Amino acid sequence: MSEGTANQSSEPEVWTVKRVLDWTIGHLRKHGCESARLDAEILLAHSRCCQRIQLYTQYDAPLTPEERSKMRDLVKRRAGHEPVAYLVGFREFFGLDFEVEPGVLIPRPDTETLVVRALELAREIAAPRILDLCTGSGCVAAAIAENCRNAVVTAVELDDQAFAIASRNLAKHELADRVTLLQGDLFEPLPDGELFDLIVSNPPYVTTAELDTLPPDVRLHEPHRALDGGVDGLDIVRRIIAEGHSRLKSGGALLLEIGSEQAATVEELFAQAGAFEPAIVEKDLAGHCRVVWARKR
Ligand SMILES: C[S@@+](CC[C@H](N)C(=O)[O-])C[C@H]1O[C@@H](n2cnc3c(N)ncnc32)[C@H](O)[C@@H]1O
Repeated sequence: MSEGTANQSSEPEVWTVKRVLDWTIGHLRKHGCESARLDAEILLAHSRCCQRIQLYTQYDAPLTPEERSKMRDLVKRRAGHEPVAYLVGFREFFGLDFEVEPGVLIPRPDTETLVVRALELAREIAAPRILDLCTGSGCVAAAIAENCRNAVVTAVELDDQAFAIASRNLAKHELADRVTLLQGDLFEPLPDGELFDLIVSNPPYVTTAELDTLPPDVRLHEPHRALDGGVDGLDIVRRIIAEGHSRLKSGGALLLEIGSEQAATVEELFAQAGAFEPAIVEKDLAGHCRVVWARKR
């Protein structure tokens, strides 16, 4: 969107919605952005304070100088690999919008696999008590509470910034009275003796070595402490499996999101804990192993 391009009649060309979109898509592609069209549309809709779908009915509308200036800044930052969710301040997950900001992990579609299985198991129980460990933005706890209206949910987060965002997201979705948010290290902030029907978690599970190989959007902008699971990625997973059974009711289930290569090791960790039925591995929509879960015997 640089200034001064002239057409053949030497009239300055007008920066219409269509022209800005076309230019942005090309620019983002040049900078290695794989979802250039979608990103361009989301950023332009954000700059114009409209729905993405409305861009299609406004193709010939010129941008105001303020919209152009806002869009120019966003496109520059996106070309530097800042995630779109941080640029616009939210990400949709399981049909709900979640506030996010740098320092808080952006919800991923992969994690919907964990929510879908948790909801299936929760629907077998009249008033399920559900614990979401490592809640981050609160997306898993909120999606479960929103879609299982009789669930009583507790969510735990260690990090101050994520805890504050989770709190705002639960309030925004009017779930603060149905989801108890606690700050602390895994099971530590829970009241003594409280037991759950389901424990779910999308913990940090990336190996420390892998962090440097992640795509630039993630590597340069998302919080490493939300991703780093230690040498084999399973530091937190091990702790959750080792302690989890003592927080489950008999027949209750522990569900963990994992990296696609970790399924066999995590199945083995469940077996070694000696308190679970054989673990089950679920694949995500891309066909990757994504969730391992097991019932307490
Ligand atoms: C992979 S993110 C998942 C966030 C969110 N559940 C989601 O699916 O988008 C992991 C989260 O776990 C939190 N965390 C890391 N270690 C923790 C611990 N020991 N106790 C509680 N939360 C922890 C991180 O701060 C981060 O927000």
